[in-house]
Amino acid sequence: MATLFKNIKELIQVRDESVSFVAGTAMKTLPTIKNAYLVVENGKIADYGSMADCPTTSMEETVDATGKMVLPTWCDSHTHIVYAGNRESEFIDRIHGLSYEEIANRGGGILNSARTLQETSEEALYEQSKVRLEEIMQLGTGAVEIKSGYGLTVNSELKMLRVIKRLKDSYPIPVKASFLGAHALPSHYKGNTSKYLDLIVNEMVPKIAEAKLAEYIDIFCETGYFTVADTEKILEAGKRYGLIPKIHVNQFTAIGGVQAGVKYHALSVDHLEIMRDEDIEALKNTNTMPVALPSCSYFLSIPYTPARKMIDAGLPLALATDYNPGSTPSGNMNFVVSTACIKMKMTPEEAINAATINGAYAMGLEKEAGSITIGKQANLILTKPVNSIGFIPYAFGSNHIDSVYIKGKAINQ
Ligand code: NIG
Ligand code: FE
Repeated sequence: MATLFKNIKELIQVRDESVSFVAGTAMKTLPTIKNAYLVVENGKIADYGSMADCPTTSMEETVDATGKMVLPTWCDSHTHIVYAGNRESEFIDRIHGLSYEEIANRGGGILNSARTLQETSEEALYEQSKVRLEEIMQLGTGAVEIKSGYGLTVNSELKMLRVIKRLKDSYPIPVKASFLGAHALPSHYKGNTSKYLDLIVNEMVPKIAEAKLAEYIDIFCETGYFTVADTEKILEAGKRYGLIPKIHVNQFTAIGGVQAGVKYHALSVDHLEIMRDEDIEALKNTNTMPVALPSCSYFLSIPYTPARKMIDAGLPLALATDYNPGSTPSGNMNFVVSTACIKMKMTPEEAINAATINGAYAMGLEKEAGSITIGKQANLILTKPVNSIGFIPYAFGSNHIDSVYIKGKAINQ
């Protein structure tokens, strides 16, 4: 089965396979081909180039993209889309003046979601979660990472991870799973963190690794949640079982979590709203991708990750949604890209690099997703007619997507 996209106004993010991510000033460049064609064969990108060289052989399907652009689908490297219920009542509490921290201290927050999830059947959890996966695919996401962390018991963490596995097996986009048992301390372990950490290390990690339910291990390294020493303990256990770190750090306070991530060769360190100079320094010349989550900053009214400072220091940066019921009830990568430009002063080119190729790297998918590269999955966004790529983040809130193609097939409802 072959499809020819022809007369593409601009083919965006064209890279050869040697590029796994872009950093520093290189993020300002978004390689494109104007007036281009692209051929999809058996779900993969098979050929592309300038219309002057467009193949004349007939193909099963032709898409005339006159006036429209084609770019790789968004790579959302940080989500929690498997959850039960919602936290709308806490949203209202925050409107009335309570802080995220105050709500968590009263037993709300992550523990609220954990109680709901523990009472929800695996089937119902799958049904609720698949709606969100389908929603983000319609919004242009073509690769996603999903975390556990609302189970907080052996059985419920396994239940969440089985749901992630079922989503992975049922949908055509790449899905990566991260085990986040150390997301919050269950209330009956209060004052006894080490006992909960032992449960994670001695029971959860071995069971999850044996059942191959996760590739990555995550922890919420934050004041009031887990310390740097806790983080090292969890990452050490993960390492013994081949789980690679992708961790939550520096959301509210900087306590050395970035350094712990670098020490354990984390694939990514995520959030980074509060960054000291030494945290930026620690990330230089490493393979660890910093990940910013601007929708979380927007929703919680907390600082935005200092993207300008980080990119100007030569670092790479990825953008992701953090889609979850508490801090970011939105999985819209189009909004993330706009917000990164509007609030974090990233250029459209930087933001698109961060949301595609760098996002793919941040979930170990740089060989399959994130750029227009021969052999990668043909997961593509076909835009509505637009004059230039910068118009997409500029006109925030409008839907610029004509169609989303996954493995070369349109998935529009
Ligand atoms: O990435 N920060 C920790 N975890 C999630 C939010 C958890 C929640 O409030 O449910 C996050 O923001
Ligand atoms: Fe998160």
